[in-house]
Order: sequence, then structure tokens, then C-alpha cells
Amino acid sequence: MSKIGIIGGSGLYDIEGFVLRKRQAVATPYGKPSDKYLLGKIGKTEVVFLPRHGSHHNIPPHMINYRANIFGFHKLGVKRVLSISAVGGIRKGLKPGDIVILDQVLDMTRNRKSTFYDGKNGVVHIDFTDPYCPKLRETLKKAGRRVRVSVKNGGTYVAVEGPRLESASEIRSFGILGGDVVGMTGMPEASLARELEICYSGLSVVANYAAGISRRKLTVAEVMEAMKATTTNIKRLLSETFRLIPDGRQCICSEALKEAKI
Ligand code: HPA
Repeated sequence: MSKIGIIGGSGLYDIEGFVLRKRQAVATPYGKPSDKYLLGKIGKTEVVFLPRHGSHHNIPPHMINYRANIFGFHKLGVKRVLSISAVGGIRKGLKPGDIVILDQVLDMTRNRKSTFYDGKNGVVHIDFTDPYCPKLRETLKKAGRRVRVSVKNGGTYVAVEGPRLESASEIRSFGILGGDVVGMTGMPEASLARELEICYSGLSVVANYAAGISRRKLTVAEVMEAMKATTTNIKRLLSETFRLIPDGRQCICSEALKEAKI
């Protein structure tokens, strides 16, 4: 069974049954990852955690070394990454606490190093029609049904540069373009993973209504409460997902570099 990576908040380490083996620093040609990787096991599955913003949550979204983070997983032999992120809800009907299995991306970031192929190691154009691994999405959906955690199947993630939040007009525009949720970290994570033939899936937790969506101002206490309640569900969902992930990979991700190089 290949190792499974989790990238997300540090609140996820105490997932039931996670046995920590070691904390490992990983050097990469792209610099330092956000933190040490936590290597351990859940049941028979080898799991590798990385807190995206560092263990003290001190790295803002626009300063994260996305290439180092993803390359670090690759170096550790991780073939699948489950990414957890907080987002603002744009689509009507989405509310704080909802969990969305992402299926599309709108990349609005501008200033990030977003490829491993910057000329020195060839010219590569990976296919990104389906940015998230379809097999992992299926598995997450199935896991949700099994443990009765309600998930929204499908959603377009709008990736913004941050760290500022959006204007109401920006959110309105993103909605017209088909965006369902907005966040600051989902890209270039997804495309970097694809460049290394890593399966990548995105689970987003709606933390707040995006700017201008709700007239009612949300309180921080409400948001924290929604996130706390959802963390329990995310953990249950992940535990079941680990059990359901098959050994071999039969998806577009595992062959992403075939016919992608010039
Ligand atoms: N916008 C961008 N990123 C976010 C938001 C938001 O409203 N909520 C959580 N991450």
C-alpha cells in the first residue's frame, strides 16, 4: 500500500488511531517545506501529515513554499495527497460547516512559483482537465456515505492570492464564472501534485460566507464553532477513506507525464 499524505491544519493530527512514528525534516531543491512531516500509521495505512501553514500557523498563504511542500511528499514516496482547506462559500445553499469534495479549479493567483518545469528539466504541459483525482473523489464520496458524513459532491475552487479577503464585486464575478468556493491555498498545490504524478484531492470546509454573499455579518465564534464541529466529521471521513483507498492506482494522475513532454 502506498503512503497517503494529508496537507491541512494541525488540528488533524489527533485523528483517531494515528500512531506517530517520527517527525522528519525534508530538504528539497526548491527550499524548505512548511514544517517537518509527521510520519505514522493509521491501521495498516502509512500516513504522512504536513501542516500547510507551519505548526504554529505562522506562514501566510502567499508565502507558502508550495513546490517544497509537494516535492517533500514526493521524496517521502507519497503517491496520494488529501488536501483539507478552509474556504468562503460563494454558491447559493453553501453554509459554514459544509464539506465540499472539489472537482474543478479557477486559478486567480498571480505571483506564485507554480511549476517544477521551468525550462531546466524540459518543457512539460500536463493535462489539467480534471484537476482532482477522480478515483480519490469517488473514494471520499463513498466514505462519506459509509460514515454518514454529509458532503457536497463537486465544487469549483477559486484560488486567490490573498492574504486580503475579496471585495463583494470580486465574489460576484467569481460566481458568474462558475466558482463555488474561494480560498487562498488550493493552487498551485493541485497542479504541482499532478506534475509529479501524485493523486490529489481537495476537501474544502466552508468557514464563512464569501464577501457580500450574506447580509448578516458572521461572528468569529460562529465560524469557530462550525469549524470545530466539522473537524470531527473530517476526521471520521478521512479514517474511512484510508480504509477504502485501493492498493494500486488506475487514474489519469499516475500517468500524467506520459505524452506531456515536448
Ligand atoms: N476568502 C478567501 N479565502 C478564505 C475565505 C474567504 O472568504 N475563507 C476561508 N479562506
